[in-house]
Amino acid sequence: MSAVSFPKKSIFVCDGSKCGKHKEIKKYFKDAIKDAGLKDQVEVIKMECTDRCKHAPIVCLQPHNEWFAELTIWKARQVFEEQILAKKGV
Ligand code: FES
Repeated sequence: MSAVSFPKKSIFVCDGSKCGKHKEIKKYFKDAIKDAGLKDQVEVIKMECTDRCKHAPIVCLQPHNEWFAELTIWKARQVFEEQILAKKGV
């Protein structure tokens, strides 16, 4: 039986009907993870609608349960730098 591996951190990106229109957010995080060489530590996971559609796009970081609403690329970059890159070892 092969061993299963799990990421240290997960970026849950809402893929519901409203948030899912903001495909640039998911693409940004995937590219940023790849560029930072963190593919084995951080994973982007699509999640279903969380009933916060008015504030799309919604993103949630785990394991620290940090939620972000109305993300723009600029804000996504800031979140990635502050919550993923700056806390690599956390
Ligand atoms: S579509 Fe994202 S919260 Fe509903």
